[in-house]
Amino acid sequence: MIPVLSVQNLTKAYGQKKVVNNVSFSIFSGQIFGFVGPNGAGKSTTIKMITGLIPITEGTVKICGYNISRNFKRAISNVGAVVEMPHLYPYLSGYKNLKIFAGFYGKSAERRIDKIVKLVGMENRIHDKVSTYSLGMKQRLGIAQALLNKPKLLILDEPTNGLDPNGIVEIRNILKVLAEKENMAIIISSHNLAQLEQTCDTIGVISNGRLIENKTMQQIETMVSTKQRVQLLCNYPNYAAMLVNKKYKLKSKVIGNSIYLPLKETNIATVISYLTFKKVKIYGIKKIQKSLEEIYFDLLNNDRPSSSII
Ligand SMILES: Nc1ncnc2c1ncn2[C@@H]1O[C@H](COP(=O)(O)OP(=O)(O)OP(=O)(O)O)[C@@H](O)[C@H]1O
Ligand SMILES: [Mg+2]
Repeated sequence: MIPVLSVQNLTKAYGQKKVVNNVSFSIFSGQIFGFVGPNGAGKSTTIKMITGLIPITEGTVKICGYNISRNFKRAISNVGAVVEMPHLYPYLSGYKNLKIFAGFYGKSAERRIDKIVKLVGMENRIHDKVSTYSLGMKQRLGIAQALLNKPKLLILDEPTNGLDPNGIVEIRNILKVLAEKENMAIIISSHNLAQLEQTCDTIGVISNGRLIENKTMQQIETMVSTKQRVQLLCNYPNYAAMLVNKKYKLKSKVIGNSIYLPLKETNIATVISYLTFKKVKIYGIKKIQKSLEEIYFDLLNNDRPSSSII
């Protein structure tokens, strides 16, 4: 199976500065790829190169096997995209907007308008002027526009920016339907990981133009669980730390009356029995798990190759 999108060693330089630096990843049918990174990381620049909006300095982009630089028309015919803000005519209705854009693709796109309007949940407001729409509605209309040519690859740059939690859930549900029912490959960028984690099955983290992480949600969940710590409140924490270090080679940290251990759930009982046997009194146990958000910030702060963070 060839990937719907294949990005290889993609680089964009402005003068001496590489704002996108040797980025490689692939996306397959039905996959939702979350492209996350702080402001200025290079998300929009990468997306603009993928969609042929700006020239590529180095590397290749292939969409359904077609090279975007060499075979632009063929490649782009498989893409629907909303980059930064959707381009809409505010003084026309949503429907009229869709009709104009469908005109670029021909009759089959026009015939699909009603189905797409339903899919993005805009039936009730589609004949109102776009100038009366909320931000969420404009975003949904933008997605509708991007769906007109029945793309195999949907690219959305920060589609949930500025939306309230309801708006975010609505967009999430639309994307899940598109991936699951239409088998579309989707790339969605955001500077907020929390907004992506429930939508995407793969997450790529970009920082300073480099892709510093590319993992499935499953791998990320494993990563989160391996970062688990157990806090034991006890009478002699330094003694306890020495004991577990000697017996189990566990590196612990002592803060106040607590000792913090990198312990798997299955080993907690063994360690506690041992400490109790050695006359350490345990007054409290607490599991401390790093949130995905904390791991993300660790990643960005370290900004080093992926193998070293687990
Ligand atoms: N035309 C340009 N000339 C010079 N530098 C540019 C140009 N366009 C973008 N940049 C720089 O490239 C870097 C990446 O910008 P980009 O817009 O891709 O970031 P981003 O990840 O999309 O950020 P945001 O979350 O703010 O949208 C930034 O430092 C930006 O200033
Ligand atoms: Mg951007």
